[in-house]
Amino acid sequence: MNSLEQIVSVAQADFLAAADAAALENAKAKYLGKTGQITELMKGLGKLAPEEKKAQGALINAAKGQIEAALTARRDALADAQLQQRLNAEAIDVTLPGRGRAPGGIHPVMRTWERVEAIFRSIGFDVAGGPEIETDWTNFTALNSPENHPARSMQDTFYIEGNDSTGKPLLLRTHTSPMQVRYARSHQPPIKVIAPGRTYRVDSDATHSPMFHQVEGLWIAENISFADLKGVYLNFVKAFFETDDLQVRFRPSYFPFTEPSAEIDIAFGSGPLKGRWLEVSGSGQVHPTVVRNFGLDPEKYIGFAFGSGLERLTMLRYGVNDLRLFYEGDLRFLKQFN
Ligand code: DAH
Repeated sequence: MNSLEQIVSVAQADFLAAADAAALENAKAKYLGKTGQITELMKGLGKLAPEEKKAQGALINAAKGQIEAALTARRDALADAQLQQRLNAEAIDVTLPGRGRAPGGIHPVMRTWERVEAIFRSIGFDVAGGPEIETDWTNFTALNSPENHPARSMQDTFYIEGNDSTGKPLLLRTHTSPMQVRYARSHQPPIKVIAPGRTYRVDSDATHSPMFHQVEGLWIAENISFADLKGVYLNFVKAFFETDDLQVRFRPSYFPFTEPSAEIDIAFGSGPLKGRWLEVSGSGQVHPTVVRNFGLDPEKYIGFAFGSGLERLTMLRYGVNDLRLFYEGDLRFLKQFN
């Protein structure tokens, strides 16, 4: 074996022995680096006679080619090995059993929400949604509850940081009634809409929660009367409770945004609640001041509004006696509705 062949075979062995990329690059320097053995031999060529230079140069180049080939082969082998190692380390055992997912179910209050939408849609009402953070004007003033009016104390309010454009504090809407104003100001009469959604008050006991749900109803046109309210609401409760064996009564009440105002009570003709009058909604003929705040002429437009609690409707439909059950997330309770 001449010395060139020896260099090549030692280099091949060296490369094979390199355990990783860094070791391989170090080994490469011994042969092909600035002062590597092959490089030095190349430098020595200059001293040779032209004939010899040619012959020797060809041999050195051939040896260099072999060394480079060995280097590339080892580089590829190391890269393959590394990839294989990663694949092994990150392997997923697809035969392991999954974690499993319990079947989900719709919340009883959401079920009511959806039923209410479907019933009112079926008699031509639009369905609108709106912001839970409201301005003082939309939640109170436009609904005929001026600042400092005692009627405002009917609703204990959560104020939040930040003011509206008039400098008044923003608040969490205490009812869905502001949606009357928002919707009426952005639509042309006849206005026939319900607006279900979340509402907030500083209130917490067996029948009150700081967050609860209401559905607002509004029908404004040129000749909508209390008789229409009675027909619409009777149709609604009959559809909602799935019975015709039910009575509705209007009991005089007060709301700033309606005149006259009434509470709507229902009484079932059978079942566990048979014969008891149960309050389900506030309602009334929309106050002329409120119609004016809709941007409409109260001499021309008239109609009714109502606001019903979705929790209340749900409790009556399913016989739930404590409103807090809706928010405790107890599966034993929730499962019964699915
Ligand atoms: N906004 C009232 C409340 O939360 C409920 C209500 C009463 C809504 C009468 C109405 C209405 O639209 O006409 O107590």
